[in-house]
Amino acid sequence: MNRVLNSEASRHVGENIKIAGWVNIRRDHGKLVFLDMRDRTGIVQVVCTPKHEEAYKIAERVRPEWVLEIQGVCQKRPEGMTNETPQGSVEVQAQTITILSEAKTPPFPLDTEGYEIEEEKRLRYRYLDLRRERMKRNLVLRHRVIQFMREFLSKEKFVEIETPILSKSTPEGARDYVVPSRLYPGTFYALPQSPQQYKQLLQVAGFERYFQIAQCFRDEDPRADRQPEFTQLDLEMSFTTQEDILNLVERLYTEIVQKLFPEKKIQQNPFPRISYKEAQERWNSDKPDIRKDLKDPNELAFAFIVDFPMFEWKERENRWDAVHHPFTRPQTEDIVAMKKDPGSILAYQYDFVLNGSEIGGGSLRTSNIQVLEAVFEIMGHSKEGMRKQFSHLLEAFSYGVPPHGGMAPGIDRFLAVMLNEPSIREVIAFPKTGDARDPMMASPAEISKEQLKELGIKVVKK
Ligand code: AMO
Repeated sequence: MNRVLNSEASRHVGENIKIAGWVNIRRDHGKLVFLDMRDRTGIVQVVCTPKHEEAYKIAERVRPEWVLEIQGVCQKRPEGMTNETPQGSVEVQAQTITILSEAKTPPFPLDTEGYEIEEEKRLRYRYLDLRRERMKRNLVLRHRVIQFMREFLSKEKFVEIETPILSKSTPEGARDYVVPSRLYPGTFYALPQSPQQYKQLLQVAGFERYFQIAQCFRDEDPRADRQPEFTQLDLEMSFTTQEDILNLVERLYTEIVQKLFPEKKIQQNPFPRISYKEAQERWNSDKPDIRKDLKDPNELAFAFIVDFPMFEWKERENRWDAVHHPFTRPQTEDIVAMKKDPGSILAYQYDFVLNGSEIGGGSLRTSNIQVLEAVFEIMGHSKEGMRKQFSHLLEAFSYGVPPHGGMAPGIDRFLAVMLNEPSIREVIAFPKTGDARDPMMASPAEISKEQLKELGIKVVKK
């Protein structure tokens, strides 16, 4: 007999069926034991009576979260005993029950929203935490959003290409996570802060339209909207303009909302383009929340913040730095003017903002080597230093580089806003704690003396 999913049970009234799943709730009414059985599709009520003695005896003994296989007749519930849940009009009369796995009592309730439980505990037993309805909904919607992005971009003739995780340091502005090389002791790979350089190299390679659901790694202090490891919808296009890129992203996100979040309302479409200067003057923020009605959880105010300054003065380091990254194209190619007054130069750089959250960033790129050299010089890098660090990119650009640009919307932040979640940890299957640990895997962790030796690494205790 094939297993019937709980969501399908009501189509099998009058039939002998087999279901399988976890015991959600068990209610003992003496001569009747009710089991609410849960699977990935929903909940079905099972009734056990002494008429089927063996099954009844097992039902008396089972506890929440045990995994059972139950066979019996699916029937309409008696008048007055139905409820409004999807399978609330039917129940299964158990004839046989097979225990597939017993379960300890979970360390916290699974039938609540879960916000009330200490995070350390939730993450320590994340596989249980993910059993709760809310977390399941979040991860299924995450899947649907990603699937929608893939289909949308594939139709637009983008090609999804994976880029390496073992990579080299990139100037994305955060600290790198590094991985020691065994074969070349004393050298290190870096985990990508984003696939930025690879996606530009793919433009040199002629792919013209690239995307990737990309894992990115940044060694920064985690916050509600920041994780050491997060996911971007990474995009890059050749022969394009800033408006081409913004329009594409606008269409994609409009369709995602219409198809997957029909209860939500987009405040303004096309999404307003607001200059960085105006955002600062009117809202004193580069990610303003421009919702007219802040009380409505279904109000979505998307905006693009454009015309960012190319450089910002870093007081502590006493030097100019690129606001986005050094490959961003300045709005002028006048190198003399750029060096004279770096603070006045604008860039083809844009942020994507939703309800006050920065959900994406991108830029057109410089492929003019003289401009790139000037940018690095303004940032205080020597020509030699720059050639050393970015020789691969500069060399690639000398072999015919199309004008190109792109964007990388952050998937975690978008989902957190859409699902009204207070933190991106609520939309990631296995996030790190606020202090960058994984209590379930107990990572980060020490490695063995042998491993250290093989890698040629000596650990200095602080
Ligand atoms: P940027 O650094 O602006 O641009 O990142 C793009 C978007 O990624 C998300 N994001 C994060 N989400 C969760 N945790 C983090 N630690 C984190 N850091 C960033 C944000 C952000 O807007 N390579 C460029 C893109 C480009 O130029 O095409 C880049 O990574 O939503």
